[in-house]
Amino acid sequence: MALDTAFQVSSSNLRFGFGCTRELGMDLKELGALRVMVLMDPALVDLHPGHAVLESLREHKIPFDLYTQIQTEPTDHSFRVATEAAVEGRFDAFVAVGGGSTIDTAKAANLYSCYPADFFAYVNAPIGLGIPVPGPLRPLIAIPTTAGTGSETTGTAIFDWREKKTKTGISHRHLRPLLGLVDPENTRSQPPAVAASAGLDVLSHALESYTVIPFNSRPRPNRPAERPAYQGTNPFSDQWALQALRLTHAYLQRAYDDPSDGEARFQMCLASAIAGVGFGNAGVHLPHGMSYPVAGLVKRYFPPGYQVDHPLVPHGMSVILNTPAVVRFTAQANPQRHLDCAAALGADIRHVDLKDAGELLAQTIIGYMKSLKMPNGLAALGYTPADIPKLVEGTLPQHRVTKLSPRPATSEDLTHLFQDSLTIWRD
Ligand SMILES: NC(=O)c1ccc[n+]([C@@H]2O[C@H](COP(=O)([O-])OP(=O)(O)OC[C@H]3O[C@@H](n4cnc5c(N)ncnc54)[C@H](O)[C@@H]3O)[C@@H](O)[C@H]2O)c1
Repeated sequence: MALDTAFQVSSSNLRFGFGCTRELGMDLKELGALRVMVLMDPALVDLHPGHAVLESLREHKIPFDLYTQIQTEPTDHSFRVATEAAVEGRFDAFVAVGGGSTIDTAKAANLYSCYPADFFAYVNAPIGLGIPVPGPLRPLIAIPTTAGTGSETTGTAIFDWREKKTKTGISHRHLRPLLGLVDPENTRSQPPAVAASAGLDVLSHALESYTVIPFNSRPRPNRPAERPAYQGTNPFSDQWALQALRLTHAYLQRAYDDPSDGEARFQMCLASAIAGVGFGNAGVHLPHGMSYPVAGLVKRYFPPGYQVDHPLVPHGMSVILNTPAVVRFTAQANPQRHLDCAAALGADIRHVDLKDAGELLAQTIIGYMKSLKMPNGLAALGYTPADIPKLVEGTLPQHRVTKLSPRPATSEDLTHLFQDSLTIWRD
């Protein structure tokens, strides 16, 4: 088998900076958009991001319909409802204003209204058929209001598959927004709990994309178009990942403690976007794969600080709760990379033996979890040892990400990882 010798770097166009939301109307005018679907998180309509977007659209006389039926942590159902609205409206451009939940909903509505198909046609195999997106979509401008998922840079849309009680996604380069308007003013109103969970998602994207298998350990594709979006670590994504970890170390706690700290919000928006470009090309691994059933099987957990009417585990939280156990497990595959992550996150790595890299990184992450008031493990969300077989069952088919793990995990390994994630620290 010939191994790959090349990697591709893809990203959305990004415009970055305070106040750039005001330029939205001009962008749509220049695109010649005649009928725009604006998907907006309902919580934002009466906050700064909503005001700035609607003012810009009105000022430039852009015809638009406002769609606010966004579900936090979207589902196959909420994707379908948005698609119906998109089909009915015959829009020629899309705008998403919100966190990952809104941006991903807009990607799905754009995809299925452009290329109608059975819902599972484009969903990642083996859960769906994994059929490649047939061609370019209509223009989507993404305006993130969390820092964050980096969804404004990626070709991924994640949803909770209600029937199977697990999350999965659709991944293809054509799903990438045409443009991301990253305006740190839009994250000022993030509640601290959202800033914490979204910020730990940034940390996870960077850490996982720096520790996945290398791009040149995968088979060489027959055609460039067959190269997966998640290609493995590569010299490009490594730069983004390490810098995103350094920025997270320097600014996440500040952004959490004081939403009026503009410099901290600016730097966390930067960390979110560059970690997005990194993982969008390299991929993520076990903490994300394990997070999908953790989010999908939740029964009673209402996260403090989130305004939601149904039980849910915020995405960043569902990932970070598995991460200390995973890094102890994966460190033996590439200890130096685990040590690099610990150092970028502020740990003192002088005099540390490589064999202790996993434990040092786990303890460093636990420090962040404590200071950002994360729950102490899956047990705090209501999970018990009896739930572990189902959590493992929900992780095994997540090949899109689990196959990138630097150390392959069997179902027995996953059982141990979930057991170790029930309670993470002893006070
Ligand atoms: N597509 C990708 O590449 C990608 C990557 C990571 C995560 N995701 C997905 O993104 C979703 C999570 O997105 P998220 O973490 O950005 O959060 P979110 O979009 O789910 O929003 C979380 C909460 O914060 C509120 N909120 C958002 N911005 C706000 C603001 N500025 N002011 C006040 N309230 C605000 C929302 O109303 C919501 O209640 C998950 O479904 C996850 O799976 C996608």
